[in-house]
Amino acid sequence: MARVLDGKALATEVKNELKGRIAQWMSNGYRAPSLRCILVGENPASETYVKNKITSALEVGISAETIKYNASMSEDELITAIKALNDDNDVDGILVQLPLPDMIDERRVCNAVAPEKDVDGFHIINVGQLCLDMPALVPATALGVVEMLKRFKIETFGKSAVVVGRSKNVGLPIAMMLHSDKDHDNGLGMDATVTICHRYTPTDELEFYCRHADIIITATGVPKLIKSHMVKPGATVIDVGITRITDENGKTKLVGDVDYEEVSKIAGAITPVPGGVGPMTVAMLMHNTFLAAQHLRKNELQ
Ligand code: GUN
Repeated sequence: MARVLDGKALATEVKNELKGRIAQWMSNGYRAPSLRCILVGENPASETYVKNKITSALEVGISAETIKYNASMSEDELITAIKALNDDNDVDGILVQLPLPDMIDERRVCNAVAPEKDVDGFHIINVGQLCLDMPALVPATALGVVEMLKRFKIETFGKSAVVVGRSKNVGLPIAMMLHSDKDHDNGLGMDATVTICHRYTPTDELEFYCRHADIIITATGVPKLIKSHMVKPGATVIDVGITRITDENGKTKLVGDVDYEEVSKIAGAITPVPGGVGPMTVAMLMHNTFLAAQHLRKNELQ
C-alpha cells in the first residue's frame, strides 16, 4: 500500500512554524501581518473557503477580515475597492476569492491588486516573475504541492513528472516550478522533466505519459480520472482535484481526480482527498501573507 502523504498534519506543522516566526518578528516591534479577503456574491463553496482562510490566519497571528459585496457590484466598483486596499498601509495581503460573477473580468481584477500584496500570485507581474525564475508571490496551491514534495522528501531531480491540467492558477505554476532549475534565483525549481496533459490529450496518450511518470500531479476536477493502470508501481501521486459529489445515499462528499482505492495499492505515495493538498493551500497562503508583510516593511525602510 502507498504511503499516505498527510497534508492536514503537514499543514498544522507549517502553520505552527509560521506562528512562531510571526511572533518572533512581532517581538521586534512590527505589527501583525494583515490580510483582506474580498468575497463578491453568495457562493457557498467560496464562503467556506474564505472562512477557512480567515480562521487559519487568526490561528497563526495574522489579522484578517472578509469584505463582502453584493453580486450586483460592478467591475469598476470592485477595482476601486481593491485600489483603496492597495493604498492602505495597514494591509499587507489582498485576496479576491474566485470565481467572480460572470459580468466581472477576473483577469482585470487580478491585475488590479498591487503585485506586492497579491498573496494569491495571480497578478501578471507575479506570474511573469515565476516564469523567469525570479522571486515572486506564487499561487498557494502550487506552493502547497511543492512544499509537500520537499517535506515528504520525494525526489524530483531528473525525475519524470506529469501535470494533468493546464489552469493558469494551478497546473501552470506547478509545471513551472517542477521543470525549473533549482540553482536559479528563486530557489523554487525542482529539475524534473515535465509533461503537461490537458482535456485534449488523447486518452491513450494520457495513459502513456502517466504510466511512465515518477510523479503524477493531477488538477482537473474530473473524479476518478486517474486509474491504477495509469500509474507506475511506486510512483508518487498528488491529487489537487476537489469535486463535491452526492453519493448513492444522498450525502455530499469531496472527491479528488484519483481513484484512490485502486491507485493507493499501486503508488508509492499518495495524497488523500480531503486532507491532502487542500489544507496545504491554506497554510501556504499564510506563508505568502507573512512574506508580503516582510517585504513591505523592508521596502518602507528604504
Ligand atoms: N477559488 C478557488 N481557488 C482559489 C484560490 O486559490 N484563490 C482565490 N482567490 N480564489 C480561489
